[in-house]
Amino acid sequence: MAREIDTARVLCTLADIPVGATREFRIGAGDWPLRGFLVRTRDALHAYVNRCPHAGHALNLRPHRFLTADGSLIVCTSHGALFEKATGFCVAGPCAGRALTTIPVEVDAGLVLLAADVDPASFENVEAL
Ligand code: FES
Repeated sequence: MAREIDTARVLCTLADIPVGATREFRIGAGDWPLRGFLVRTRDALHAYVNRCPHAGHALNLRPHRFLTADGSLIVCTSHGALFEKATGFCVAGPCAGRALTTIPVEVDAGLVLLAADVDPASFENVEAL
């Protein structure tokens, strides 16, 4: 018997995020939904909280745009911090050595979902500093 999908956990369809793309999502109710973004590489799908560890800003200015011009790294548009796509580790910029907060996700039936054991509210107090 197929597993029932919790529609409240759906971030997008897998088709919405082709290899090499990034995509924003919001999940959760109230004034403080979890704001995150997906990064799809050739091998995997990664998700991070959309909050820079430097000063707590959202990383992007333009919708769904998180990568450097060559697509090799995640960039924070505020002060230029650069992060590895596969780990969220900051390799250059004012927060070098720190990392984005990972959000566990899974793919089921062509849908990208917040992992079943993750409470979106658990990311509310992720500190920027
Ligand atoms: S807020 Fe991201 S580099 Fe400063």
